[in-house]
Amino acid sequence: MTKVFINGDFLNEKDAKVSYEDRGYVFGDGIYEYIRAYEGKLFTVKEHFERFLRSANEIGLDLGYTVDELIDLVRQLLNENNVKNGGIYIQATRGVAPREHSFPTPPTKPVIMAFTKSYDRPYEQLENGVYGVTTEDIRWLRCDIKSLNLLGNVLAKEYAVKYNATEAIQHRGETVTEGASSNVYAIKDGAIYTHPINNFILNGITRRVIKWIAEDYGIPFKEETFTVDFLKNADEVIISSTSAEVMPVIKVDGDDIGNGKVGDVTRKLQEGFNKYIKSHSI
Ligand code: PDD
Repeated sequence: MTKVFINGDFLNEKDAKVSYEDRGYVFGDGIYEYIRAYEGKLFTVKEHFERFLRSANEIGLDLGYTVDELIDLVRQLLNENNVKNGGIYIQATRGVAPREHSFPTPPTKPVIMAFTKSYDRPYEQLENGVYGVTTEDIRWLRCDIKSLNLLGNVLAKEYAVKYNATEAIQHRGETVTEGASSNVYAIKDGAIYTHPINNFILNGITRRVIKWIAEDYGIPFKEETFTVDFLKNADEVIISSTSAEVMPVIKVDGDDIGNGKVGDVTRKLQEGFNKYIKSHSI
């Protein structure tokens, strides 16, 4: 029986229930992380939980867990569910209280929930690439917080689905920010361009790994804003996330990027990523 973690207990799936007054359910008042497992090990898990605690801190939530305790928790869940390759979703909400927008007084205990899912790496898409579409970024101004409020992202992703694309590439005015659930990169004349870390994007863990790989291979990594036009005229485009890894985008809004094939810099980054999976999974 698949187990789900809720507030200290590993429950059978059918018993894993939360209150209708949970502030995550009512207000989206909470945060989350999504972590990848390869061959039964957790990839860049320390970085994920450091970001989790940062998100918690930014919304005034005291989880009462350290990074090491959180790692132990998800490792136990991974083992309980015998997940080798897959993902772990973990979220924390501000807890259960009568519906009132302001924080409950006295503070409620956060509700922490985690579940796992087994799946393989997206080999076919990594090999052949995916399609992207551009759409205006309508989200709030704290996209650096990995908040449960994902309506803007959900609507963007649904727009992509409608136009037979895998990812919606969002832009604020002319400036490309990030995907509905990924970071976005344009590769031009051998250099990688991506939006700088600020409140407009999530500081992706995979983005960090790509930066490490770029340093390893001596590929310039420019954290600068760029326009939709620049993106469409790039030699290569990629998106990155915990589940998508280093994913080539070969068409944007129906037009080929470069020659419409997966490019050399992308292949180099994918090769580097495979090495990091081995060296950064614990
Ligand atoms: N999403 N930007 C957004 C808006 C995201 O939702 C994600 C990841 C990323 C990439 O972050 P990372 O490399 O740390 O996964 C960037 C996860 C996978 C999700 O929502 O399931």
